[in-house]
Amino acid sequence: MHSLLNRFLVLSLVAFVGLTITSCNIEGLFTKIGDDPVFVDPDAPVATAGTAEAGGVGKTVYGRICAACHLGSGKGVPGNNIPPLAGSPLVVSDPSIPIRIVLHGFKGPIERNGVTINGQMAAWKDQLSDQDVADVLTYVRSAFGNSASAITPDEVSTVRGETSSRLAPFTESELK
Ligand code: HEC
Repeated sequence: MHSLLNRFLVLSLVAFVGLTITSCNIEGLFTKIGDDPVFVDPDAPVATAGTAEAGGVGKTVYGRICAACHLGSGKGVPGNNIPPLAGSPLVVSDPSIPIRIVLHGFKGPIERNGVTINGQMAAWKDQLSDQDVADVLTYVRSAFGNSASAITPDEVSTVRGETSSRLAPFTESELK
């Protein structure tokens, strides 16, 4: 008799806890992955280059590679020697300049917004295709408040050919 009563009490408790959990807003209990500023939804619809949303493809490359350092906001971490891409004069200059930076890397010291940054970015030429570089730079040049023309895979291919013997990262003075 007692064990039957106990079983009833346990079952009621389980039902009560279950109902309480399912009836409250579960989402509010967890931090959603979409809240992460760097998160890029891999299932998001992808636009093809040449459309008004060409930044869509580049944004995916950016989220996969660049955002780890330059952040989803493009603000970088100047105190940690990572420059902002938002407002970067090199990003919005002649296309060959940001292309050379991404293909072969970049080395400080540089000064951005009064902060001296002295780091080094590795070359991406072996990881990224001409299309990837064009897409990511097209995105970077039109995001974070930047405004500059799109970059084509042909332009990247030309610069890749012209700089194929390059082994060291570029410095700012070499690009000016
Ligand atoms: C592992 C960290 C890291 C990653 C990942 C990274 N960068 Fe960088 N990037 C740096 C650092 C560090 C510098 C600056 C070095 C210096 O000048 O002191 C830099 C500099 C730059 C600059 C020059 C900005 C300026 O104003 O001088 C551009 C453009 C740039 N990166 C673009 C990119 C793009 C596009 C990607 C993704 C394909 C990328 N970076 C991925 C670390 C990174």
